[in-house]
Amino acid sequence: MAEAKAPYQRGGSARDASFEEAGLRFEVDGEIATITLARPEKRNAQTFATWSALAGIGDSLPERVRVVVVRGEGPSFSAGIDLRMFTPEGVPGQGSFSSVARQDQDTFDKGIERAQQGFLWLRRPEIVSIAAVQGHAIGAGFQLALACDLRIVADDVKFCMKEPALGLVPDLTGTKPLVELVGLAKAKDLCLTARIVGAEEAFRIGLAEQVVEPGELAKAVQEKVAQLLSTNREAAAATKRLLQGAQTRTLEEQSAAERTEQAARIRALFAGS
Ligand code: ACO
Repeated sequence: MAEAKAPYQRGGSARDASFEEAGLRFEVDGEIATITLARPEKRNAQTFATWSALAGIGDSLPERVRVVVVRGEGPSFSAGIDLRMFTPEGVPGQGSFSSVARQDQDTFDKGIERAQQGFLWLRRPEIVSIAAVQGHAIGAGFQLALACDLRIVADDVKFCMKEPALGLVPDLTGTKPLVELVGLAKAKDLCLTARIVGAEEAFRIGLAEQVVEPGELAKAVQEKVAQLLSTNREAAAATKRLLQGAQTRTLEEQSAAERTEQAARIRALFAGS
């Protein structure tokens, strides 16, 4: 088999992977960006091209964007990694786990790091990201939803951290938000059993902010976007910085961080008056 080089292995930007190859659509409408997983006939399975393209969107996101919606077309948000990766043939043009397994450590590490960049930027303070999740969100699909700040789900949602059942670990930045959202014991329960979490439990344990009927998902997301856009852009970014730093700071450090952010806000708002 000729060894195809995955886009992520080239270490480049989103331009490496066309959106079509990546199974994505990307639209910007003023302050709102929408990323659509657009391979519904394959339940929006993700490839390295998907992650490379996601990283590229993060690299070149227009500054005016304040809210990023991540959604999936069809019955499932995403069935996770494309299972062709587990076959010797792999995904055409993108290699397979067999080819990845033969890489040296540095190439291997850089490849996963680039894939992770596709998920990490969704936490940036300057934006709020919302995952609109219906049906299955498995493995990489679950992790993509976890990378977002908020999850609005349809009542048919099925979250599943399938990786350990397939011999892998979740490595697309999902373990930290999962532990932060549901706590260590529950995260162990979900990951180490690879069981499915439905809407009622997802809401109860903090995986979902809101549960709606499938037909109401787009409207619920639209309403949340409008609420988010109703606050001051700079104050929202500063507040998100504060909230995201809160878990790793002491109370004294957090109080100091609040003072610093507020001083900047008050100066920006009133210094000229
Ligand atoms: N990779 C590649 N193709 C997929 C994937 C996937 N992860 N999931 C579904 N498909 C394809 C199916 O092969 C099928 O293709 P075909 O029509 O050419 O036969 C098509 O999508 C529809 O799939 P169905 O199984 O018929 O759809 P259904 O709605 O009944 O089931 C479900 C959806 C539950 C998501 C099922 O497809 C499934 O279990 N998929 C695999 C999930 C998985 O194990 N993902 C890996 C997680 S680990 C990780 O992400 C790192």
